[in-house]
Amino acid sequence: MPRLIQLSDPHLVARADGRVRGRTALSLFRKALDKALQEQPDLLLVSGDCCHDETWCGYVRLRDAIDAAIQRKAASTVRFALLAGNHDHPQRLRAVLGRHWVVAPGVVDAGCWRLLVVSSHRAGGCAGVIGGAQLSWVNTQLREAETLEKFVVVALHHPPVPIGDPSMDTIGLSDGLQLMDSLRRSSAVRAVLFGHIHQHWQGVSALRPDLSLLGCPSTLASFDPVQPCPLGRAWDPGGRLLDLVADGSVQERLMRWSASSSQQGEPDSVIFV
Ligand SMILES: [Fe+2]
Repeated sequence: MPRLIQLSDPHLVARADGRVRGRTALSLFRKALDKALQEQPDLLLVSGDCCHDETWCGYVRLRDAIDAAIQRKAASTVRFALLAGNHDHPQRLRAVLGRHWVVAPGVVDAGCWRLLVVSSHRAGGCAGVIGGAQLSWVNTQLREAETLEKFVVVALHHPPVPIGDPSMDTIGLSDGLQLMDSLRRSSAVRAVLFGHIHQHWQGVSALRPDLSLLGCPSTLASFDPVQPCPLGRAWDPGGRLLDLVADGSVQERLMRWSASSSQQGEPDSVIFV
């Protein structure tokens, strides 16, 4: 049973001690990686806004943080998948990390599951777009997954549906309707994971109640929650753990940890949903 952990929106910058939203982005991302790798995932997803200042050096920090965490946790078998958000430079992300890891658009297969990572980056704006060419590629991957009898998790940065926050919904996915129309037509698709909202959020497709839509907290800083945090820790960094079951079901847990730099003696929280 593959285990996937989603981290999102680390907002790294070129300086190792650089602060974003008043917090040191790199130290918090390192902590998130350690928290994630402690759970022994098979796949680790970083769902966009990887590098806030979009610098080459920022992406090198991202790569080095991943490499160091793998060393610390003896986690050489974990596979990483990354995708671009609005705060990203997709070509630099691919150039620095694409040699070793899957960078969107891309596919990671694990047993009877397939993770599709999709870029919703649109140059010069905060809203996102999949685009016709990438949507066609998604449809091809879905048909192939059905032929191979694989279940599918789709990951992108922007929520594919409105979440109920007027400010976020104005910078959502401009072709979300088209994407959701494709995804709901494929019975292989079981979950859609996204970042961008810096918060826990969960829903289902209006026409496919078995298709989960899940928003992930940021490893850096939270935005105002639309839904209550099941752990009562809406302002803490976090991530999401998903166990992908062979029968096509998904068991998921929200993860939260404190924003302090110390990792000793602090409470962690997880919950099965
Ligand atoms: Fe973000």
